[in-house]
Amino acid sequence: MEKALKLITQLVGEARPEARQQVILALTNLIHSLETPDAMVQRIGGLVLQTSATVTAVDLGLFRLLAAAEGPVTVDSLAQKTSAEKPLLRRLLRFLAAIGMVDEVSKDTFAANHASRNMTAKIAEAGIKHYFYTVCPEYYALPDYLKNTGYKNPSDETHTAWHDAFKTDKGPFTWFSDHPDNMAYFNDYMASRRGPELSWLSVYPVRQEAANWSAGRPLYVNIGGNIGHQCAEFREKYPDIPGRVILQDLAHSIAAALPTPGVENMVHNFFEPQPVKGAKFYFLRGVCHNHPDHKVRQILEHTKAAMTSESVLLIDEIIPPEVGASLDATAHDMTMLAAFAGAERSEAQWKALFAEVGLRLVKTYLYNAPSYESVMDVRLA
Ligand SMILES: C[S@@+](CC[C@H](N)C(=O)[O-])C[C@H]1O[C@@H](n2cnc3c(N)ncnc32)[C@H](O)[C@@H]1O
Repeated sequence: MEKALKLITQLVGEARPEARQQVILALTNLIHSLETPDAMVQRIGGLVLQTSATVTAVDLGLFRLLAAAEGPVTVDSLAQKTSAEKPLLRRLLRFLAAIGMVDEVSKDTFAANHASRNMTAKIAEAGIKHYFYTVCPEYYALPDYLKNTGYKNPSDETHTAWHDAFKTDKGPFTWFSDHPDNMAYFNDYMASRRGPELSWLSVYPVRQEAANWSAGRPLYVNIGGNIGHQCAEFREKYPDIPGRVILQDLAHSIAAALPTPGVENMVHNFFEPQPVKGAKFYFLRGVCHNHPDHKVRQILEHTKAAMTSESVLLIDEIIPPEVGASLDATAHDMTMLAAFAGAERSEAQWKALFAEVGLRLVKTYLYNAPSYESVMDVRLA
């Protein structure tokens, strides 16, 4: 057994990042093959308990305490360093060990492993809370929502599983403004998901495309750019390209926006006409997947109306293949479906949408192969 595991670990280590997904699927199928129906129900049925216990461990700082220790740590010591009672900690840690989030070294003694160390990253702490408090409730509401709407592919953004889950008529982004904790988890998660090395900036010929651009003209407009991390990355990478760099988002995001020198922060609703005309680059990352086709067409039309023949619309999204898409990409797609009646669209679906509004796809640049993240260069047809 140990030999087999060693061999698999070695193979995974050597595999290209995009091949890991196949290994994970093969190992998942292996787990399934070992399970009885009851064992499977307990694991699948209890998945949210894994999320819930992980959130509690993050709140208590358990992963950080274990990761910072030189070696194994006793429950006694963890109880002293946290506000939790020892019997509770013991039960929580034993469950976390049973799901592989920590190692149980001996009775009442635990140590950090790869999973625990993963959970000390800022992206993981913010992300798990974003999922637990803002995303998981819509997963609960989804089966009844689909039943009640006759199993139609959702296209009504004003009534999704999200609305049922939170008993609200507000969409997630409007709702965020009344729920600052949820918004902070979301913003932190979004901001730390990808660094500049895994971004469109690593593949797109910005300098070449923006050659001869002049100061005073809008160079880069980041539409729905959240609090401005990508604007800051753009300015940092290209401080010398002349032109205005503009962040646009709803008022609550702009209120929290980074004060990056050389970046203008502007409140703008992308369902209204684009006020910045003739920019070189109009950029949207992870925005269109939050909307059904008829709303994406509105965003595209408003942007198109502001574009000149020199403008490039850059759409940065997960573009899953038609067959064999990964767990990550298909889960994103279902999450978009449940929250927004949105979708992760294939390249063919994008081409069709562009054609409908008089735009054309010039080229797709893949920058993160395992997650199919790509930026599309789109121009006036
Ligand atoms: C999924 S986030 C993507 C954020 C950012 N582009 C990124 O990739 O990190 C969607 C963003 O769109 C913004 N947004 C939602 N509805 C909007 C609207 N009607 N007008 C402008 N921004 C909007 C949200 O506030 C949020 O920052």
